[in-house]
Amino acid sequence: MEQMITAMPRIGEKAPSFKAVTTQGEINFPEQYAGNWVILFSHPADFTPVCTSEFMTFASMESKFDEANCKLVGLSVDGLYSHIAWLRTIYEKIEYKGMKNVEVKFPLIEDITMEVAKKYGMIQPGESSTKAVRAVFFIDPKGIVRAMIYYPLSLGRNFDELYRVITALQTADAFSVATPADWYPGDDLIVPPAGSCGIAKDRMQKQENMKCYDWFFCTKKISKEEILTKILKKK
Ligand code: BEZ
Repeated sequence: MEQMITAMPRIGEKAPSFKAVTTQGEINFPEQYAGNWVILFSHPADFTPVCTSEFMTFASMESKFDEANCKLVGLSVDGLYSHIAWLRTIYEKIEYKGMKNVEVKFPLIEDITMEVAKKYGMIQPGESSTKAVRAVFFIDPKGIVRAMIYYPLSLGRNFDELYRVITALQTADAFSVATPADWYPGDDLIVPPAGSCGIAKDRMQKQENMKCYDWFFCTKKISKEEILTKILKKK
């Protein structure tokens, strides 16, 4: 049996480059997204119900991600005409959780050869050797993979969580902090101990609004307003 070669991107490394055809024209990834955050995500197949619910949800939230300077790029191993027909059907016929006439404006990559899917570890033969799993890559403005999440075929993603990940990564960068369990903007942040999470020692001097419970557990308050003013685009 032919061995399938699949790579797995790693956090902290450059996102693998590729050129591809999409529903919005050709893209040169991640180079053309320099200066923006981008979420590259895969879905198993066009014209399937869970994927349809996901596309409607993501497309409905596109302006919210855009406000966070984050572009969306989808992929499946279907062809371009399938993508176009599926997205048109979604627009014309499907209603889900109060959403209807949803127009998917972000690019959807055709990857019939699975070239891109294999570069990104989206083909996981234990789950399916003919369909991509539901992979999500969070790539920063320098083209570095900052986080990734993989879901199996049967499990639709939580898009509020994807948005939370983007805001948490941006907050960590903007304020040199880490974000604790279940963090949302306005909740206490973590001031990482010196030498961890890439925080330099000189930044570890006692900071304003900081409370230390022990040497390894210091929290800091930054208001939701201050965070959102810094990370979101000005309206
Ligand atoms: C779906 O999106 O509904 C789906 C796709 C592939 C396998 C199972 C479910």
